[in-house]
Amino acid sequence: MPVPVILDCDPGHDDAFNILLAAAHPAIDLLALTTVAGNQTLEKTTLNARRVCAVAGIRGVPIAAGRDRPLHGARRTAENIHGDSGLDGPGFGEGEPDVPQDPRDALTLIRDTLLAHPEPVTLVPTGPLTNIAALLLAHPGLAGRIRRIVMMGGSTGRGNTTPAAEFNVLCDPEAADIVLRSGLPVTMFGLNATHQVRATPEVVARIAALGTPLSALCVELLTFFGSAYREVYGFDAPPLHDPLTVAHLIDPSLVELVRAAVTVELHGTYTRGATVVDLHGVTGLPAAVEVGTRVDTDRFWDLVVEAVRVLGGGPGPR
Ligand code: RIB
Ligand code: CA
Repeated sequence: MPVPVILDCDPGHDDAFNILLAAAHPAIDLLALTTVAGNQTLEKTTLNARRVCAVAGIRGVPIAAGRDRPLHGARRTAENIHGDSGLDGPGFGEGEPDVPQDPRDALTLIRDTLLAHPEPVTLVPTGPLTNIAALLLAHPGLAGRIRRIVMMGGSTGRGNTTPAAEFNVLCDPEAADIVLRSGLPVTMFGLNATHQVRATPEVVARIAALGTPLSALCVELLTFFGSAYREVYGFDAPPLHDPLTVAHLIDPSLVELVRAAVTVELHGTYTRGATVVDLHGVTGLPAAVEVGTRVDTDRFWDLVVEAVRVLGGGPGPR
C-alpha cells in the first residue's frame, strides 16, 4: 500500500526534487504540500512549491503556506545557496504558475488532511520544523493520526550554517527540540547522511539524457545548486539533501539507521542549533530517534532519475 505523506518544505532546490520523487513514485501517496520560511521567505518558498508542481504536471495536491518566521528568534534565509528566488537557475517566467495556493494555512490543511485520512499519515519536513512544532502545540490530539515524522535536518557531526548547526535546525532550534521530544517516531536524515548523495556530473548527465523539458529544468536547477555549493563550501558536487527522506520511505533498506538519543542545543553561544546525537549511549537518555547513517547512493540516484523521467514523460521502461 502506498505510504500517505504530507511534505512540509522550503523549496529550495533539493526540496524541489523531493516533491518530484514523492509525486512520481507509486509507493508514495502525496496528500498535501505545506511550505515554511527557510531557504527563502515564505512567499518565495510557497511560489516555488507551486512552480515545481506546475512544471512537473503535479495536479490535485493542495499547497498551503505555513509560518513565515521561527517560533523564537530572527528569521534567516539561504540565498547564498538557493538564490534570490529560492529556486535560481531556471527561468520560471514572471506569471503566476497554474497551480493554485490553497486558501487554508498550513496547519489547517495538515489538520484537515490528518482527520480525513483513514490511516495515520507520515509527515516529511525538509525545512525548519516551525510548522510541525506549531501543529503539535496547537493540536496535541492529532498525534494519534501521525504515523511518524521523517525529517531532513541536523547532523551527527558538524553543521553547515555554523560549525555546529545545520540550517533547518538552526533556523528554529526550539521547533526542532519540540519535534524531537514529542514522543512521536522520528527518523532524522542529517548532513552526515545527505552529504553522501552528491549530484555529480555523471548524475547530471543521466538527467540531461532524458531529453525532456522537465529534465532540462532539473539540470538548470542542479547547475545553479552546484555552483553555489562550489563557491560556498568548495564542494565538487552539491548534496541533494531532502530526497533522502522520501527515498527512505520508498525503500527503507536504502539508508542504514541507528537508534540514538538526539537533543538540540538551545543556549550555546557558539553551538545553538546543534543536534547532539548520542551514538554510543553515554547520556543515559532514551535512544528514541532513528538516525540515518550509510546510504546506498546508486539506488538513491536511480530513484531520483526515474522520478524525473516519469514526470517528464521521458522514454524508457516504466
Ligand atoms: O541544511 C540543508 C537543508 O536546509 C536542506 O533541507 C535545504 O533545503 C535547507 O532547507
Ligand atoms: Ca529544505
